[in-house]
Amino acid sequence: MCGIVGYLGEKEKKAILLEGLQELEYRGYDSAGIAIIEHHQLKHYKAIGKLSNLKEKTKHFTSTGFGISIGHTRWATHGKPTELNAHPHIGAYSYVVHNGIIENYQLLKAQLIQEGITFVTQTDTEVIVHLFEHHSKQTSTPFEAFEKTIGQLEGAYAILLISELAPDTIFFAKNGSPMLVGFEGDDVYFASSDTPIIGRAKEVHYLADGEYGYATNQAVALFDATGTKAFTKQPLPTDKALAQKDGYRFFMEKEIYEQSHIISETMMGRVLEETIHFEELEENFFDGISAIKICACGTSYHSALAASYLFERMVKVRCSVEIASEFRYKEPLLTHDTLFVTISQSGETADTLKALKMAKQAGLKSLSICNVDNSSIVRESDCAILTRAGIEKGVASTKAFATQTMVLWMLALTMGEHKQTITPTTLAQEITAMRQTPKSLQVTDRLHAKLNRLSKRYLHGHGFFFIGRDIFYPLALEGALKLKEISYLHAEGYPAGEMKHGPIALADSRLFTIALMPKSMHYEKIKSNVEELSARDTTICAISPEPFELADDFIQTHFSTHPMLEFFEMMVITQLLALEISVRLGNDVDMPRNLAKSVTVE
Ligand code: M6R
Repeated sequence: MCGIVGYLGEKEKKAILLEGLQELEYRGYDSAGIAIIEHHQLKHYKAIGKLSNLKEKTKHFTSTGFGISIGHTRWATHGKPTELNAHPHIGAYSYVVHNGIIENYQLLKAQLIQEGITFVTQTDTEVIVHLFEHHSKQTSTPFEAFEKTIGQLEGAYAILLISELAPDTIFFAKNGSPMLVGFEGDDVYFASSDTPIIGRAKEVHYLADGEYGYATNQAVALFDATGTKAFTKQPLPTDKALAQKDGYRFFMEKEIYEQSHIISETMMGRVLEETIHFEELEENFFDGISAIKICACGTSYHSALAASYLFERMVKVRCSVEIASEFRYKEPLLTHDTLFVTISQSGETADTLKALKMAKQAGLKSLSICNVDNSSIVRESDCAILTRAGIEKGVASTKAFATQTMVLWMLALTMGEHKQTITPTTLAQEITAMRQTPKSLQVTDRLHAKLNRLSKRYLHGHGFFFIGRDIFYPLALEGALKLKEISYLHAEGYPAGEMKHGPIALADSRLFTIALMPKSMHYEKIKSNVEELSARDTTICAISPEPFELADDFIQTHFSTHPMLEFFEMMVITQLLALEISVRLGNDVDMPRNLAKSVTVE
């Protein structure tokens, strides 16, 4: 996810910007840039790759005296991670940095091109700076031009804009993407999160959606749709490590909570009013495709398994899923009508990468679903869809799984629409459900407290079964993987109907069963599977919207008619339960033993 910093004042600006961007590195980025105006002189520097490249480029530059400055780390969404596409974006006399996605940029861009404006990047952001300069020709102040500009933007943004027209002013606006303003004497700071300004600013105002304004060394003014507003300043936290985790105890916990917001980023610009559109896919991308093969490892394999149910049900194409490390040595039969899909959070998993290379060699069309742009898997694929989860620090994957599953659900609908296997009515219903996903992913204090309380009962025993049917079977696999990764307790995921074919032999009071019992899918079937386990005295923790009297513990979810909404809600519960059990056992939640975040060896 992009990171933004800004500074207005007398201090040396380059150091403040670069150190600030360094603090935002954890958000993930593929290029970076800064722009500074001082003594009426405008300077900018950009570099792809790590911040060290930008530092190298700026090593002979220092700033002196009063000035204004903005900086940015870019996580590519529109356009490749090139120096040209890196922020700040440049007009004739203005610079902008932006985090988020401008959904109506194509329309605005077309209008500006008609006015004779030339665009040089592939980004959505460039439209902002040109729009500002366009308006500034007709307005009496640059601030009016800025107000008009943000009034036309649709989508999510945190924006800082500077211009030679107002060389002592930073214009700012926030809607949907995070940004804060920090204060210390006459100095004003901006950042995407606390960490860049801890130790510099004393007080902070966390901008709310719809707030915008300007900062000069005379005044900092705040507005929203109702007019001028007062800042709500509060003291800045002083602990950087805690601030990086946004106050959560662990990155994994933060990432679980983030899912509700992140999933909107995954959908942004793709889930439209009546259709789903991936600008990454060409019009005829699915032509000639009558089967899908997905290869992945670990959590990514589980999202693939869930997707296989969706592809066969909605698109009516054969969909097989394989663990990449198995696929690569089995001498697989590959046919040219098969779309080869790889899924990977990191984009660097050795087995998945090798599987992709094999498929390419066999002449298959390849698509990757990945969280890291420009990673090996993305580069190797014919086409890539980014999940936009932002950097995931916890070794146990959470938001990567949620966003992969979302992309796959969207992909199934796109392909279903293309192949006309779903009706417009079904598509509309699916889109309506999809828009409710952020709500299903929300963690309430009540839920978290309940899982914390429950967790103390699940620290011993001789193992866990997570059971579910249909798409809830891969979710059971994922729930079990999460638990074993961070608690080191033995856990297995099983299709509920499979228990009586062997695993039920383990049933006794010290066997814990986490039963995923959605109401929208095969409820009666799974209920009877759970009853069989209960009859053998197994300790049952049921997760369901429907109270279940045989449950030893019961976690009530919301009634929903759409299985995917139940899926996402139950996913959060299994993640938090694993986390709370792990915490009670005193384990390192973010860095579990024996595991690495990116598995780049076979
Ligand atoms: O980066 P990838 O998605 O390719 O990684 C695959 C697995 O190594 C990964 O999902 C692993 O299973 C996680 N630790 C799960 O939490």
